[in-house]
Parts: sequence; structure tokens; C-alpha cells
Amino acid sequence: MKVLVIGGGGREHALVWAIARSPRVQEVVCAPGNGGIAALARCVPVNQQDLDDLIRVVVSEQPDLTVVGPEVPLSLGLVDELTRRGMRVFGPTRRAAMLETSKVFAKEFMQRHHLPTAHYAVCGSAEELPAALAHFHAPIVVKADGLAAGKGVVICQSKQEAEAVAKQMLTGQLLGEAQHQVVLEEFLAGDEISWLVFSDGAHVLPLVAAQDHKRIGEGDTGLNTGGMGAYSTDTLLAPEMRDWLVHHIAQPVIDGMAAEGAPFRGVLYCGLMMTARGPMLLEFNTRFGDPETEAILPRLHDGALLQAMEAAVDGTLDQVQLQWRGEPAVTVIAASQGYPGAAQTGHEITGLEEAAQTEGVTVFHAGTALHDGKIVTAGGRVLAVTAIAETLQSACDQAYAALDKIHFDGIYFRRDIAHRALKKSKEKA
Ligand code: AMP
Ligand code: GLY
Repeated sequence: MKVLVIGGGGREHALVWAIARSPRVQEVVCAPGNGGIAALARCVPVNQQDLDDLIRVVVSEQPDLTVVGPEVPLSLGLVDELTRRGMRVFGPTRRAAMLETSKVFAKEFMQRHHLPTAHYAVCGSAEELPAALAHFHAPIVVKADGLAAGKGVVICQSKQEAEAVAKQMLTGQLLGEAQHQVVLEEFLAGDEISWLVFSDGAHVLPLVAAQDHKRIGEGDTGLNTGGMGAYSTDTLLAPEMRDWLVHHIAQPVIDGMAAEGAPFRGVLYCGLMMTARGPMLLEFNTRFGDPETEAILPRLHDGALLQAMEAAVDGTLDQVQLQWRGEPAVTVIAASQGYPGAAQTGHEITGLEEAAQTEGVTVFHAGTALHDGKIVTAGGRVLAVTAIAETLQSACDQAYAALDKIHFDGIYFRRDIAHRALKKSKEKA
């Protein structure tokens, strides 16, 4: 069969890599792809912000299955349009994607369906802020309603700061685009996990859990980024807790969306805080996480990703069981100088082949391009170096050994990915 993947980051490289490993796949096309994806798939240009252009590419390629990686095409209604044309596509409709595209919708949905989440208030104007803030204690989390590429959440240390940040979001000073509404939220403390499930609109099939590292600096300091690394181990989520999450969070979400006339098909990413009061939902994404996907998919047996995606499209997920490798996986992001601000790009990357020969290592490309036969940097996050090994420590060692072979001007990566889990395993020993 022929599969078309939409997107061009590290997540899509991992998706293409896993899909191409299925014996049933003859051809993978990726739009737009990147310098690394080009080694596995035919890359075709597309403007991911333009619904007409996206439809044009899918219609001209006529794939047996389209897989939508990023959130913007989902928010534009790509899945609705392709489904209407009778094409098979993995991903939620525009209405189902509102779990990600509107924080207000997501919070009100959680409340309607009694899902555990932080207390919150919605404000639609600066005038409403003082009265709403009176119900909160610092720290206060302020969230933009709409998509903000990871920049829409600010943790404020005082009510004054929360009011100022909320005002800046409402006027457009902070994110460029003015928000019609902001969410004020109680701050939750605990360990954060990324827990993803496949759904076909009725059934739920969980993936193994992962943990992201959102801050630019070691020790989780500095600015928020799209994610500087991730790891996935069985120790992140005990089987009993996973079953609890299926019954008390994932299944009620899927049932709730179906009952509201917007059945959710695709992959649902639940951002969870494991608090003293139990697991609480921080957010939903309606797609695979990046960089979590690069750490999760190497743990999945060959062919299983495509099988789960097709079952999600066909409504037969109850007949699928996923086989996972027990070994942990670690992904470290190599970023360009300046990231998460304006990043320097266009620098040649060397050492990629040597790095890929490190045991257990796969180098996924995030922001790279092929230029005159050379791979060059083309974005803030450049590479996602993944290692899978017997222990978490050896996976980390192998990922960093591979990274030490890679060079480009201004390369930056965190040396402490998986530090929380490594610390815990040392305390136990
Ligand atoms: P989001 O875009 O909703 O994923 O939020 C980005 C990050 O902000 C999350 O991954 C958390 O680390 C943090 N965050 C969001 N909501 C809260 C909350 N209520 N309490 C503490 N941290 C939060
Ligand atoms: N890693 C967080 C995200 O994909 O949104």
C-alpha cells in the first residue's frame, strides 16, 4: 500500500520510519518532509497552513492512507475534507481536534464529563480579570485559548503578573494574535507524563508513556521550548495506573466526544500531572507529541503502528493488541543556536552516518534540509537522536555518544535528559 504522511519534523520522520518498516507498505510519501525523511520517503512540497494546497497534494497522490502529523492541518479541517472525498485518513475531524485547538472547549468538556483537572476560570476581557483572579492563589497558570505552538502557557508567580500576562494575551501583545479568551488555572505540582491513546471513536488502545523536557536549560530552567528531549520507560506508568487512566480518563473522553456528536478518531495525547490528589489532566493534544513520538515508536514492534492506524480509521481497534519492547528509549534534541528564539540556520551537519552506527541509535531529523547533496540545519530543533538499550542509563549513554559525533555551528543540547528517572532509579538501588 501507499501511505502519505503530512508534516516535516522529527515526529513525522519517526512516523515515516515506523510506517516504512511495515511489510505491507510499498511506498511512503511525505509532504513536505525534510532532509532526513527524504532517505525513506519521496518528499513533495506543500504549504501546511493552506487547506487547498494540502488537499491538492493528497488528491494528486491518491494514497491508500493519509496520516496527519501536526495540529494546524487538523485545525483547518483536512480530515473532514478528505473523508468527504471518500479517502482514508488517520486523524481527528476539526470539531474533535477542538480538544487541542481551544483550551476553553477542552476545560469545559473536562468539567461536563467530570474528568480530573485543575480549577479554572475563563475570561473574555481585561475587565473580568480582577474578579476572577480573586479566587486564585499564586502561582497561577495563564493559558491562551487558541493554538500557540507551545508558547501559550505562562506560569505566573503573582496575581499582578497573571493579570498583566492575561491582558497581553487578550490584546495580542504576547502571541501576535489577540485571544478572544484566556484560561486562568490553579497550579498543579507533581510529575508530568505524556500518555497517548489510539481511538477509533469508540475504543481506546493505550501507548506506552513518555516524559518530555520542555525547558531549554539543564535542570528544567529557562524558556519553554517545543521539547528538548523525552524518554519512555515502563517505570513511568504502572499497569494498574494505566488501567485506571483508561477507565477514568481516556474512555470517558472518547465516550463524551461521541455523545457530543464529534467522535474522536486518531491519537489523543493526554498531558497528565501526577499530583498528590491523583492524576489530573493538564491538556489534550489531538496528534502525536514531538519529541515523545521519537522515543515511543522505537519501542513498538514492526508493523504495529500501521495496523493500529488502520484499525483507528476502520473502527476495529478492539481487535488490535500492541506489542512493546521492554527496553527504555531516550531522545535528545539537538537545537540551533538562538532557539527557542530566532534560530541560526543553513549550517552543514556532519557526523550523521557515524552517529547512526552507534548501537541502538536512530537519528531522526526535525529541522534539516538537503542542499547541494549536503544536510544543513533548517530550523530551531534540528535533530532528535534516539537510543534504545537494556537500561535507561545505557540508552542515555548511547544517545550522547552518538551526539558527540555530530557537528554543526552552534549545536546545543541538554545533557540531562531523563534526569528525574535516573535519579529515582539511583535512589532505589
Ligand atoms: P500545555 O500547553 O497546556 O501543555 O502547557 C504547557 C506546560 O505548562 C505543561 O506541559 C506543564 O508543564 C505546564 N502546565 C500547564 N498547566 C499547568 C498547571 N495547571 N499546573 C502546572 N503546570 C502546568
Ligand atoms: N511535546 C509536547 C507536544 O508535542 O505538544
